[in-house]
Amino acid sequence: MSTTQKKQNQKTAKISPARLAAFEILSKIETEKAFSSVLLPFYEEKLSPEDRALCHEITLGVLRKQLYLDRIIGNYTNNKKLDAAVTIALRIGLYQLLFLDKIPAYSAINESVNIVQKAKKTSAKGFVNAVLRRATREKFEFEFADEIERISVETSHPRWLLEKWSAQFGAQEAEKLAIENNRIPQLAFRLTGKFFRRNADEQSEILSEIDAAYEKSEHVESCYITEKYDAKLFALADSGDIYFQDEGSQMVGQAVNLQKGERFLDVCASPGSKTTQIDAQSFNKKTRNSIFAGDLHFQRVKFLRENCRSHRAGSVKIVQYDAEKSLPFAEESFDAVLLDAPCSGTGTIRHNPEIRYFLEEKDFADLKAKQLRILNNASNLLKTGGRLIYSTCSLEVEENEAVCKTFLNENRNFIQTAAGLPEKFLTSENFARTFPQKDKMDGFFIAVFEKK
Ligand SMILES: C[S@@+](CC[C@H](N)C(=O)[O-])C[C@H]1O[C@@H](n2cnc3c(N)ncnc32)[C@H](O)[C@@H]1O
Repeated sequence: MSTTQKKQNQKTAKISPARLAAFEILSKIETEKAFSSVLLPFYEEKLSPEDRALCHEITLGVLRKQLYLDRIIGNYTNNKKLDAAVTIALRIGLYQLLFLDKIPAYSAINESVNIVQKAKKTSAKGFVNAVLRRATREKFEFEFADEIERISVETSHPRWLLEKWSAQFGAQEAEKLAIENNRIPQLAFRLTGKFFRRNADEQSEILSEIDAAYEKSEHVESCYITEKYDAKLFALADSGDIYFQDEGSQMVGQAVNLQKGERFLDVCASPGSKTTQIDAQSFNKKTRNSIFAGDLHFQRVKFLRENCRSHRAGSVKIVQYDAEKSLPFAEESFDAVLLDAPCSGTGTIRHNPEIRYFLEEKDFADLKAKQLRILNNASNLLKTGGRLIYSTCSLEVEENEAVCKTFLNENRNFIQTAAGLPEKFLTSENFARTFPQKDKMDGFFIAVFEKK
């Protein structure tokens, strides 16, 4: 290769830090089932504010439009099986061409070509260039076999998931839910434990620092909501004065409602959003509770411990265990136990758009079995008259109503109650459910049982 050619190649191989970060994040999500909510903060920390915004937009935008983009790419490539790096470079390029007005077409195309070069797929450079150039010339006309396929492509949700939601909630509601899952969610936050230790004047002084308009939640005492992503809010979160936590998640913490002197266990607690919320409530209401929290893996427990420390929830006693096997506490030793169970997370797709591509239909039976094993172990720890709160961030009947009904059938010493649950969200069976498309919060399920 001549020196001029080498120079030219080096020049064309330039990729903006934002697009490179988006490519690396999307590759990890595609090949390792990693989560955007974990990877974005890690990558964005090293980027300038402009690059951070572009990386965020491209990563989440591609995930929210993935099936839509793939339909167009499939048409231009005769549905040929492509290497993952080539597919992701094409998705990134096409997303910018179709949805980002301010990005010139040449830069969207050239940078995707450079991405495949950087990924050592040099032979695909011409192919990526040709596909993206074709996309700038031709307007793609979609054709759908039926309504479900239209919704699946337009909202970028797998067909089987939409069929499942249609069977559960009706076709119209399923479409509304899928549309809502692609909207940028409101920002919900609460004042941290640290904050609760200040007096009312200091509290309003700190809240007055927030430039964005915000309001108090109608349903959750501790929760504030804003539509606007404001730099001051992020500064307050960095300094530990506020904590971002979805309104639905805070509703679970509120449902625990500890009374004076009660001993409480948060069974599946990491990263500790609800543990720290419940500890702050306990401090604020002076109910003097003994709070225990645990999780499965060392890293998750470490994360839980760090979070408790930063929320000044240092008195929470933290334990590591496999709750499916057994829990290291004496029987009948708690007044209240929360099981915020490991679940599919279909209620949180607004915040975790990739979940829809990770799940398979067969997962729900395994999740139900796991949830029941943990629920049964947790139930043994309750004193007579004690409360067992079961929650998930799943919308699926298998992980919610079905788990609760099996549990009640097999444990006749428990009765279901609606105590502490906000009435507006109660179903005809006295379970609480929230939905992104109706309630503008993540989809949570909450059930409360009392031990007779
Ligand atoms: C929905 S998350 C909990 C979120 C947490 N309650 C919060 O609000 O921050 C479920 C948790 O269950 C934990 N988990 C999964 N299997 C477990 C097991 N067998 N024993 C204990 N914890 C488990 C996961 O590590 C995960 O942290």
